Amino acid sequence: MFFITFEGIDQSGKSTQLDLLARALQSAGLSVLSVREPGGTALGEAIRKLLLGPEHAGMGPWAETLLYAAARAQLVKEVIRPALAGGKLVLSDRYIDSSLVYQGIARELGVEPVLDLNMGATGGLMPDLTLVFHLDVYSSRRRLAGRRDGRDRIEGEPLEFHRRVEAGYRQLEDLYSGRVVGIDASLAVSEVHARVLAECRQRLGLKV
Ligand code: TYD
Repeated sequence: MFFITFEGIDQSGKSTQLDLLARALQSAGLSVLSVREPGGTALGEAIRKLLLGPEHAGMGPWAETLLYAAARAQLVKEVIRPALAGGKLVLSDRYIDSSLVYQGIARELGVEPVLDLNMGATGGLMPDLTLVFHLDVYSSRRRLAGRRDGRDRIEGEPLEFHRRVEAGYRQLEDLYSGRVVGIDASLAVSEVHARVLAECRQRLGLKV
C-alpha cells in the first residue's frame, strides 16, 4: 500500500496532522501503521537517545547522519517494508527528507551525498507522498517557548540553523515537486487537516 511521510520544522504540527490523518484513514476502513523517526524499533530508540540527548554535544555532522540512517535502516527492514507488503498504509513522522534538510542542507553536507547514503540504508524505499508543513522559524520558536519539556540537542541549535531548515524544506519542495507537497502550517488545525485530505485524494486516489 502507500507510504506517506510528514515533514517540517520543529513545532510545525506535523505529528498532530499525522494522528488526524491516521484516524480518518482508519474510519475509511484502511489498515494504517504510524511510525516516528528516529525510533520505532528497539535499536532505533537506543539510537534516538544517542542523537537527541545532551551527552554528545560534540557529535560531528557525518556521525549524526550515519546514526539517523542506521535507525532508519532498521525501521525500514523491521517495520515499514513488512507493513507495506502486508497491505498496510504506512505514515511516518519524518523520514529521508529530514536528513536531506537537517544534515544535507542545514549542516551543509550536501543533499546528494546524504541521499546516496540513505538510498543504501533503505534499499531505495522512497515515499509515495511527502507532506511538508511549512512554518516560519519565528512561529516555531514561539510554539517551542510555550512547551514545558526541555529542548533536545537539535532544538537547542542556534536560530541560524533553524532558518536553514525552514529554507531547506522549501528547496526540497522545488527539487522533488512530484512527490513533495507543501502545506501552510500556520493555518488552523482543521484547515490544515482538510488540505492533507485533499492531497491524499488528489495524488493517491484515496477515498477519505
Ligand atoms: P523529535 O523529538 O522527534 O522532533 P519532532 O517532533 O520535531 O519530529 O526529534 C527529532 C529531531 O531530529 C528533530 O529536531 C529533527 C531531527 N532529525 C534530523 O536532524 N535528521 C533526521 O534524519 C531526522 C529523522 C530527524
